[in-house]
Order: sequence, then C-alpha cells, then structure tokens
Amino acid sequence: MEVTICTDYAEVSRLAAGIVADMVRAMPDAVLGFATGSSPLGLYKELIRLHKEEGLDFSGITTFNLDEYYGLDGDHPQSYRSFMNENLFNHINVPMEQTHVPSGTAEDWLEACEAYEDLIEDMGGIDVQVLGIGSDGHIAFNEPGSSLGSRTRRVYLTQQTIEDNARFFERREDVPTSAISMGVGTILEAATCVMVVSGANKAPALAAAIEGPVTAMNTASALQWHPDTWVFCDEAAAADLEMRDYYNWIRKQREADS
Ligand code: F6R
Repeated sequence: MEVTICTDYAEVSRLAAGIVADMVRAMPDAVLGFATGSSPLGLYKELIRLHKEEGLDFSGITTFNLDEYYGLDGDHPQSYRSFMNENLFNHINVPMEQTHVPSGTAEDWLEACEAYEDLIEDMGGIDVQVLGIGSDGHIAFNEPGSSLGSRTRRVYLTQQTIEDNARFFERREDVPTSAISMGVGTILEAATCVMVVSGANKAPALAAAIEGPVTAMNTASALQWHPDTWVFCDEAAAADLEMRDYYNWIRKQREADS
C-alpha cells in the first residue's frame, strides 16, 4: 500500500482525484468503481471541476458503485443512486445508462447480485476503485466478520454503521438495516484501489487496516493483499499510524524522483 499523509482534506481529495483523472485521460473507456458517504465528496467535486474547467471527458467511462441500501429505490432521496446522481453523475458528461448502482429493491436480490458481478466481468473488470473506510474498518458494507473472499450479496449492518449513517436520515429508525454490497473479493479484483480517509474517528480503523494483521474483523486490511492500493489520509486520520515518518519520507523520495 502507498500511504500519503496529506495536510488537509482538500489535498486528500485533489491527489486521489488525480489518480482517477489520469486513468480517464489514459483510458477514455475506463471502468470506474465509486463509493458513497462523506469521504469521497471532495474527490467528486474535484472531478466535476476537472470536467468543467479542463474538459475532462467522461463520455466513454462505465461506473459501478459499491453498494446500495436494501429496500431503498433509486428515487429515494437517501439512496446511493440519488447520492451519486446529485454529487457526481448530474455534473459530468457520463451517460446515465453507463452508470451502475446495485438495486436495493430487486425482486430476486440474489439473482441481481450475480448479474451485477457478471456485468463487471463483462466490462473487463474495474480499473480504478474509489473507497472510503468505516469506523469499524469496513470497505463497501463488508462489516467485521465478512469473508475476505466475499462477492456481491445482501449484508446486515452493524449497530456502529447504523449509528454512523444516521446523520443522513431524519430519524435513526429510518436507517436501513441491510444493504446490497460488493464483496471484499470483488473489490480486490479492481486493478487499482484509491482509498480516501479523513477525520480522527477513522484513525483506529485506518491504523488497523494498514499496520495490523489481515483480518475479517477489519475488512479494509484485506487491501494489504492488493498489489496497487493508494491511501490518502489527512493528519487526523493518520494519528494512530506507527510508521507515519516512513510514509512521509517515502512521499519525499517519490517527489524527488519524479
Ligand atoms: C459507501 C461505502 C462505505 C463508506 C464508509 C465511510 O459506499 O463504501 O464503506 O465508505 O462507510 O463512510 P463516510 O465516508 O461517510 O465516513
């Protein structure tokens, strides 16, 4: 894993967006994997800026989102489909039919999950996957205990995740208790992963993911097996990293070499 400790969230977002933008420039028909939540909002704003000010062309890309709340239709204001439309897709030139978010209301969710996996495979796999991390170490909605080989499926959320996500809903009781989520195994097949992390509440989970053992109790730790993962975090999120001096030194070396 390449760990970059940034001065602030703006730098986290700019550097992470740079990797996605470089991919789109190099491969106009790239397949991009997107996450929802607060963490990637700055990255999406930067992609929108690059589109509007520098003409970054998203017309040929295909996108797959990590997850969707079970039971929420794409039109629901709190659905991840609505989130993506509002925070990215409506502001760039990707044709909507090239964007994919798992269905939270499929009649046969098992079949829909298999079809989602098949579609990713048919498109040649994900070139760059954007990720956040939950305060319990989850990636997508792969909660502690999820198999590190898991595929897209229905998962039940932990009380911690329900609490964390209650801020997006009017009442805590409105937070769905399960979701359709890509699996850890699905995510590990992306060619490149870019994780954005911000805030002190993520510090313990991030340190465990990067420097702890690979364990299903912190599914982000599975990224230690991934050959091309970039982590961009701010100072607050990096607070518990033991090797922070080393990461900073590597960054200086990399900059000097380029
Ligand atoms: C959502 C997702 C989740 C979030 C995580 C952090 O698509 O993939 O794993 O990245 O729950 O959420 P925020 O960024 O809101 O702290």
